[in-house]
Amino acid sequence: MGEATRIEIRRPDDWHVHLRDGEMLRAVASYTARQFARAIVMPNLVPPVTTAGAAEAYRQRVLDALPEGSGFVPLMTCYLTDHADPDELARGHEAGLFTAAKLYPAHATTNSAFGVTDLATIRPALERMQRIGMPLLVHGEVTDRDIDIFDREAVYIDRILTGLVRDFPELRIVLEHITTAEAAAFVESAGPTVAATVTPHHMALNRNALFEGGLRPHAYCLPVVKRERHRQAVRKAAVSGSAKFFLGTDSAPHAVERKEADCGCAGIFNAPYAIESYATAFEEEGALDRLEAFASENGPLFYGLPRNEERIVLERVPIEVETSLPAAGSALVPFHAGETLPWRLVQA
Ligand code: DOR
Ligand code: ZN
Repeated sequence: MGEATRIEIRRPDDWHVHLRDGEMLRAVASYTARQFARAIVMPNLVPPVTTAGAAEAYRQRVLDALPEGSGFVPLMTCYLTDHADPDELARGHEAGLFTAAKLYPAHATTNSAFGVTDLATIRPALERMQRIGMPLLVHGEVTDRDIDIFDREAVYIDRILTGLVRDFPELRIVLEHITTAEAAAFVESAGPTVAATVTPHHMALNRNALFEGGLRPHAYCLPVVKRERHRQAVRKAAVSGSAKFFLGTDSAPHAVERKEADCGCAGIFNAPYAIESYATAFEEEGALDRLEAFASENGPLFYGLPRNEERIVLERVPIEVETSLPAAGSALVPFHAGETLPWRLVQA
């Protein structure tokens, strides 16, 4: 059999993206809309999106930032804070303004200062979400300073997530951007209410990437990339064909001067070539035949949404990724900057 020269799949969705706001939103929205039909839009703005009214206004700003004629559908999320209001969540979900709610442990990552300090405070919210069928999206890292940063996901699973799944057996939970063998195994062995998203960068990078010839701020994200054994486990899960794993880029733009700084921001801007990056990883794993399920089917199945009917085509035409893209009066350094990817998305 010769090597494939063309991949045709249903148009994928991105089940985890940071589109930001204002000028940055206007700079990045089209990259995501060019690839994906829908996306779960993270609510970690300043201030965070905690009310249905705020989600509605933010959704409108996203729509306004799209190119003319784009059919892209932003799916909004609610940022859970301590004592989150179950009625507001239910109202927002009912009105189609909150597709899901996001749990950031306080201080786990970018703009998570208003996150949840103690799971006990959101039990009423979780009970309501379980009852109405509203998914919970989890940034699964403990924040204790005495836990090694490379262990924070595994410890979160032990200390928090295991109990959460036990106490809320009907609640649909997505463990976002998994990075460890422990996370892959946990999700795989959990019941059908538990799923996970996998990013292109956690498929492509191990922690050596942070120090390749020097300190590499553009490989820094949270959860931080792990050792090779974990990258392999995450890859295997993504390409396994299990419906529990689906595409979520965690594309997280920060202007170049915020990345290349003495305290650089966490986040990798992978929106411009996300599907090309995933296709490359799937091909390396000999699993191109499973790309469509991962990218375009498992997500909608878990969320209870229809699959996209439109299709996209990737061609085996090498693309050189820009080293920098102008954005918001500054620049963004995209994931794979300066590299050549073997696949190119053909525009319909
Ligand atoms: O690397 C990350 N960047 N991880 C997150 O959890 C948040 C994100 C951001 O918003 O910048
Ligand atoms: Zn994220």
